[in-house]
Amino acid sequence: MFKGEDRAPARAFLRAMGLSDDQIYRRMVAVSNTWNEITPCQSSLKRVSESVKKGVVAGGGTPVEFGTITVSDGISMGTEGMKYSLVSREIIADSIEAVVRAHKYDCLVGLGGCDKTIPGTLMAMARLNVPSVFVYAGSMLPGSHGGRDITIQDVYEAVGAYQSGKIFKPELEEIERAACPGAGTCAGLFTANTMASLTEVMGMSLEGDASTSAVSSGREEIGSKAGQTVLGTEILPRDIFTWEAFENAITLDAAMGGSTNAVLHLIAIAHEAAVKLSIDDFDRISRKVPQLVSMKPGGEHVMFDLHKSGGVTAVLKQLNRRNLLHNTVTVSGEHLFERIERYRQNVSYNIVRDLNTPISHHGGIAILKGNLAPEGAVVKTANLKKLYHKGPARVFECEEDAFNAVKNDSIKENDVVIIRNEGPKGGPGMREMLAVTAALVGKGLGEKVALVTDGRFSGATHGLMVGHVSPEAYVGGPIASLCDGDSVMIDVGNRAIVASANLRNLPSKKGQVSGVLSKYRSMVSSASNGAVTTG
Ligand code: FES
Repeated sequence: MFKGEDRAPARAFLRAMGLSDDQIYRRMVAVSNTWNEITPCQSSLKRVSESVKKGVVAGGGTPVEFGTITVSDGISMGTEGMKYSLVSREIIADSIEAVVRAHKYDCLVGLGGCDKTIPGTLMAMARLNVPSVFVYAGSMLPGSHGGRDITIQDVYEAVGAYQSGKIFKPELEEIERAACPGAGTCAGLFTANTMASLTEVMGMSLEGDASTSAVSSGREEIGSKAGQTVLGTEILPRDIFTWEAFENAITLDAAMGGSTNAVLHLIAIAHEAAVKLSIDDFDRISRKVPQLVSMKPGGEHVMFDLHKSGGVTAVLKQLNRRNLLHNTVTVSGEHLFERIERYRQNVSYNIVRDLNTPISHHGGIAILKGNLAPEGAVVKTANLKKLYHKGPARVFECEEDAFNAVKNDSIKENDVVIIRNEGPKGGPGMREMLAVTAALVGKGLGEKVALVTDGRFSGATHGLMVGHVSPEAYVGGPIASLCDGDSVMIDVGNRAIVASANLRNLPSKKGQVSGVLSKYRSMVSSASNGAVTTG
């Protein structure tokens, strides 16, 4: 791109930005940055990208930083804005691909934080297949209220508690002010921390990247190392994104009780890397992997607790004792088992259970099938108290209608709340139902009702909540013909989701959309195939 007489115009542009001959002829490292002032999940990344760039220079390259977008789930949740969240994953992947290919950069360091920025960046890396390293923004520290650690999840649930008169406005305000003490991604094992952990076990990021907090100086160290590593590695993303690496990721997700969004995102990344992964792989692996940590939302701990216990490698160490992992290569050239062997347990603080005394003998994700979801639906089983529910359907055509019903106390014990037309095409954009699920918890109904949707859930959702129902209502999935009062049975043990009614394929085409949502609706695949937009 920058060598030879005919490329003089391209060099002239670089000289206009102050680059010297030496800098122009070095290897060019693209630094894609999702930094912005929209959300704390991204706000520390400016600092980290400076370290990445120093690392690139120290490694003998020239860094070229550019920005891409973020949609904040934490801010848009419960509104029409959330329809753009999953769409943003594709925009991030597409924009990084376009910039790196257009300018033929030699390598890529991708910085991400909030949920969609991680899979979006990894999807671009899989497409581009140039030497790449992912760097995470890092988790937020927990807030504190009433002597206990709290996160953004507590604010959502406090809204439900306030609406049902369990707490008063001053306490809601206290929780709002205390929950998010500074920069970083949501502090529990929600989607961002889940995806960062899975990125680390797959080997696309450096050791410790997932659990080092956003405010730690360790982030600069990781950034600088990443900048150097990308210039020294001969390992390409598609050497890393192997079927075995995806199996390792699913295994870790099961052991940690990670977010249901991991199902969607891992399938999408695998699709871009030409690896065949299906939702059934999640169920197969989850059945044999024990759950070893009890993380929020359903459990007690936050990501900072896992970091003090040794991070992701502490969990891997236990899993490897039962040969549950493959010895895959990582971006530094080191193999996964070398990372695990080097690890020494911090015995003074440890939240990771021994393999012989797990929290549960099964992993945290199950795939349900039946006449309501012939292509499958996803449920998080980690820390779930109730595995069976049968009750009458309460059908809502969108998230807002369901939220208002919860708010107005029209949802009763034993109901199965159905929210349809929220799938990838139907929404469009497959919104997360956290406002509804948190309101149910806040009202004290979290363990007394079930929820089923062709939309998806935030990583902060807990309770018997079944999402990603496929096929979705918009394309005529059976969920479209369910009626109020039809009996719905959810039997996690037998992996079944069955309605008593005779369900038909009845497309429930909903509303016109414009702009990027219309483009997305016409291209996106079903949730069971990762909701991808590339063929
Ligand atoms: Fe950004 Fe949770 S909303 S990480």
